[in-house]
Amino acid sequence: MKPHVILNSAMTLDGKIATRTGSSEISGPEDLLRVHQLRRKLDAIMVGVNTVLEDDPRLTVHKFQPDESDSSLREFDNPLRVITDSKARTPLNSRVLNQEAGTLIAVSQKAPGERVKALRDKGGNVDVILAGEARVDLAILMDELAQRGVRSLLLEGGSTLNFSMLQAGLVDEVRVCIAPMIAGGVGAKTLAGGEGVDYMKDAFKLELKKSYKLGKDFILEYEVLK
Ligand SMILES: NC(=O)c1ccc[n+]([C@@H]2O[C@H](COP(=O)([O-])OP(=O)(O)OC[C@H]3O[C@@H](n4cnc5c(N)ncnc54)[C@H](OP(=O)(O)O)[C@@H]3O)[C@@H](O)[C@H]2O)c1
Repeated sequence: MKPHVILNSAMTLDGKIATRTGSSEISGPEDLLRVHQLRRKLDAIMVGVNTVLEDDPRLTVHKFQPDESDSSLREFDNPLRVITDSKARTPLNSRVLNQEAGTLIAVSQKAPGERVKALRDKGGNVDVILAGEARVDLAILMDELAQRGVRSLLLEGGSTLNFSMLQAGLVDEVRVCIAPMIAGGVGAKTLAGGEGVDYMKDAFKLELKKSYKLGKDFILEYEVLK
């Protein structure tokens, strides 16, 4: 069992999701609104711990006031926030641990007990689960989320987690916002990092379903072929 997973990312024309210094203000206001509208409809949002460490995101719906009569909206305001964090490195003062939404931190057996305890001690809205030995096992995590009633999940990066999720065959859709910018930089993170595939024949194959201009940006929506 697993949720339906949509990988969503903003990138430059050369595929960078951040500069080499970690700056990641890429898309325009219209795209930020699109992402928050999507967040309001899905059950969970997931990011890797490096995104928490570098960007300190809130991962909530706060860019618009939804029309509550819209039947495609979820019952509650904010989706569950999910962090893959093998060694429980999420800082205790990070914004994903605030009271605005529930947060589930997936750790591995490598996580120091005192770090796990400190996260658990944060209180009612923070949950820590063990999934995997050295690193978070994403298939186990997806199964656990599905069992908790998460039917849809927005994967919001970063580069390393995006690749792992694709490699594990856990991504169903990819939606990208391409901003009219080129950042360059060999060290700048791209849409999918990790090990990468050795040959193009092994690349993850997609089928374009929709494309449109949004403000100054361009949106592409793909289905992942399996
Ligand atoms: N433009 C955008 O839309 C966008 C969106 C999000 C992020 N970003 C940018 O992306 C950058 C961060 O990306 P990143 O690649 O460095 O990190 P990341 O993908 O955010 O986090 C990766 C970390 O997640 C943890 N993890 C746990 N289990 C994992 C697994 N099975 N597979 C992969 N990772 C796992 C690992 O740390 P442990 O080993 O400690 O667990 C890993 O190093 C930031 O600069 C951020 O600004 C951009």
